[in-house]
Amino acid sequence: MNQDELKKAAALAALEEIRTLAPGAVVGVGTGSTVNYFIDALAGSSIIIRGAVSSSEASAQRLAAHGIPLVSLSEIGAGMLPFYVDGADEIDPGFSMIKGGGGALTREKIVAAVANRFICICDASKKVPTLGRFPLPVEVIPMARVQVGHEIARLTGGTPLWREGFVTDNGNHILDVSGLVIDDPCRLESDLNQIAGIVTNGLFARRGADVLLLATASGVERSERA
Ligand code: A5P
Repeated sequence: MNQDELKKAAALAALEEIRTLAPGAVVGVGTGSTVNYFIDALAGSSIIIRGAVSSSEASAQRLAAHGIPLVSLSEIGAGMLPFYVDGADEIDPGFSMIKGGGGALTREKIVAAVANRFICICDASKKVPTLGRFPLPVEVIPMARVQVGHEIARLTGGTPLWREGFVTDNGNHILDVSGLVIDDPCRLESDLNQIAGIVTNGLFARRGADVLLLATASGVERSERA
């Protein structure tokens, strides 16, 4: 199986995971090429939902193109978003993740925070012993980009690179921080949150995944956070 086939297999496994959804429920939908397979499969499935909360304009367009109604997060009452399905750029054994390769990290983190269960779907290449080989995306307020870059370098020893020409759905910029070995993702996530000018960092550790559906050559492995 090539990587796309693995992504599709993980996405199809997520459909089974959410099959218990009551008709009229709302599902949280992430962003990226793996999630695109999930959206397409959801549209073609027999699962009846009221609609989806999207984590990006790109996913919203894809959902809408399939006729899946978009639901605003403001309409969701406490405990009323049972699942959030999303991919990851890296995931470690404790189910902490690096996300934001597609630049949608802020809305992803917001929707994930509201959901009862985060279902991470990815191919086996995303599973790593330690986060950091994939450059950590950080969304910054444009006027603070340079100063935030200096602060990140001082704090982490990593090298921030401006994702030039890219503007997030929120009108902000992205710094991709390379050269990190992230032994304590929760701590780094919190430390980065203290830097003025950072909107969101791409570490999803304080709210990591609950379920991992990892597509491998021998099938999709399901595991839950310990
Ligand atoms: C989007 O901003 C990201 O967080 C994606 O979830 C992540 O980059 C995974 O994307 P792929 O499924 O395209 O690998």
